[in-house]
Amino acid sequence: MSTSIRNLFSAKDISAELAHKIFKVARSLEVSLKNQTALSVLSGKTCVNLFFENSTRTRMSFELAIRKLGGNVLNFTAGSSSTQKGETLIDTAKNIEAMRPHALIVRHSSGGSPYVLSKYVSIPIVNAGDGFHQHPTQALLDAFTMLSHFGSLEGKKVLILGDIAHSRVARSNIDLLKTLGAKIIVCGPPTLMPPEPKALGVEVALRPEDVLSSVDVVMALRMQLERQNSMQIPSLGEYTAIWGLSVEREALLKNEAIILHPGPINRGVEISPEVADGRRSVILDQVFNGVLIRMAVLTWILKPEEFEKWAK
Ligand code: CP
Repeated sequence: MSTSIRNLFSAKDISAELAHKIFKVARSLEVSLKNQTALSVLSGKTCVNLFFENSTRTRMSFELAIRKLGGNVLNFTAGSSSTQKGETLIDTAKNIEAMRPHALIVRHSSGGSPYVLSKYVSIPIVNAGDGFHQHPTQALLDAFTMLSHFGSLEGKKVLILGDIAHSRVARSNIDLLKTLGAKIIVCGPPTLMPPEPKALGVEVALRPEDVLSSVDVVMALRMQLERQNSMQIPSLGEYTAIWGLSVEREALLKNEAIILHPGPINRGVEISPEVADGRRSVILDQVFNGVLIRMAVLTWILKPEEFEKWAK
């Protein structure tokens, strides 16, 4: 495998310098996206969305990002593919590579699968979410959204609330936000916490009420019932009563605090509809920023010289 290809497997791999370059390129692409201007930086390049799990935001924003940069995209959907006839992940990726695309964007339920695939194919791989493990472009778009509000994340306090144990969004955000100087607090039911949360370099709060008045950002996480072996909380109603981001809990926040959620939202479970649609919510800004960040990441991977010029 060529040593010069660029992959993005984990938010741990993103230095502060690279993150700020990606943010600068994303910012410079904002005008073209808002004006519906088509660019040609990925002209002649084809990317494959290799998604083995469902997705709305990530798959569509990668697709839009590729198209906006003038490239081509193929969408693989596991349910209608030959994986249904027993073809393995590795064989699937090798066969798709044989059609000569320029990059694979991979979502899979097994942590580490994008990295494993990189041992079998010779084109760049972007991790679009692997099991509980990582979702690096989500962390980038979340940090970019926070930076758009605060200018700097140095010393900012971010509360990640909910099902931390099963969340690749939480892990990726913890890694990147620490790199960017933020302080992270995690809070959720003890059964939905990783075994040693403090080992992640975060503070742990027992109840949202203990910290809501001191934080700048609340990131509410979806209850990931599909990743839980059995119901790890007594009931969704009790979860909502104790951990849900309700109107009453929102009222404890500082005036300038903002609320994020990676989506999809379970309205009325981890976040109330009034809060999700309220004045502090930047949830749809996250979605818009996801396109910009993915445009910047794909440029970094497939057109490094252009990326460096734009990042200056
Ligand atoms: N945030 C996120 O990954 O959403 P999708 O599952 O819809 O891609």
